[in-house]
Amino acid sequence: MPAFNPDKDIPDLSGKVVFVTGGTSGIGKEIVLFLVSHNPAHIYFTGRNEEAGAAVVAAAKAKGPSTEITFVKCDLCSSRAKIRQAIAEGFKSDRLDIFIANAGIMAAPPGLTEEGFELQWGSNYLGHAVILQLLRPVLLRTAESGADVRHIQVTSYGHNYAPPGGIQFENLRKADAVGDFARYGQSKLAQILFCKAMVKRYPQITSVPVHPGVGNTNLLRNTKQSWLKSVLSAVSFLLKSAAELAYNPLWAATAPLQKLENGQYYEPVGKKTAPSKLARDEALADKLWEWTSNELNDVEAL
Ligand SMILES: NC(=O)c1ccc[n+]([C@@H]2O[C@H](COP(=O)([O-])OP(=O)(O)OC[C@H]3O[C@@H](n4cnc5c(N)ncnc54)[C@H](OP(=O)(O)O)[C@@H]3O)[C@@H](O)[C@H]2O)c1
Repeated sequence: MPAFNPDKDIPDLSGKVVFVTGGTSGIGKEIVLFLVSHNPAHIYFTGRNEEAGAAVVAAAKAKGPSTEITFVKCDLCSSRAKIRQAIAEGFKSDRLDIFIANAGIMAAPPGLTEEGFELQWGSNYLGHAVILQLLRPVLLRTAESGADVRHIQVTSYGHNYAPPGGIQFENLRKADAVGDFARYGQSKLAQILFCKAMVKRYPQITSVPVHPGVGNTNLLRNTKQSWLKSVLSAVSFLLKSAAELAYNPLWAATAPLQKLENGQYYEPVGKKTAPSKLARDEALADKLWEWTSNELNDVEAL
């Protein structure tokens, strides 16, 4: 795969509507700023930080004045009712071509979401599953109209650090049943398995999990692991910039459809790679789908 150049390799996106979670910082912010130069009709992005959201809107408008930009304030760890309200109020479109589940935290101190789920599970996996349940009808309608619809999950090589069994369903309501990185790995594994489950049920949507690489963003700055900070500062010359980390998700969201295999895992940039054995486990993907569907059975789609 030749080097990816977002300026040249992203095609014209006229008419397309994009939704990016976690667009206020790091990779998500870069995704918004790269995409806006390619003329999409509308970019929606989420985050909690309103000031950062307003700064991204201003920067994006300056780069792509013909694209509509909307910041949707939405905390992925709030209740499903609040997430629904935020998306219903913020997202007003009859089509959705590209959904990028990017927001996330890593090795955060133990905690629970408003509904009592482990914090990394809530931020990285379950909050996105809620939004996808809300937006699934509009994604499906867009695909029915003949459009190329993509659902990208920004997962991580860190999925390899999931705990024994991969997803400890019985422990998802405990703050620290396993270590910080195992909880991160569990949530990142779920993002890959969710794509697998989506492909089986909704093959008309291209669902692709991507690892962005390892780089210097607020994800690392916000971790409470001091040993990790020391290791990373020692190898800082190896770390990618936030802009470079955006390349793989951008590739998956915009490369010609024939270059992607639905449900496959890609490392930077566009390299199809086998994820862990657990991430290839069909039965675990089905179990996660069933757990998620039961858990979210009261979430009414928009
Ligand atoms: N950086 C890396 O080396 C690396 C490596 C592998 C995978 N990744 C993955 O890349 C994704 C993006 O990370 P990043 O490196 O760009 O980190 P970042 O700079 O810390 O950005 C994280 C984004 O997620 C949002 N977010 C976090 N918790 C949220 C919540 N509860 N509700 C709503 N939004 C929330 C943040 O928005 P607010 O602060 O506005 O809420 C922010 O926009 C993550 O999923 C991460 O796992 C990163």
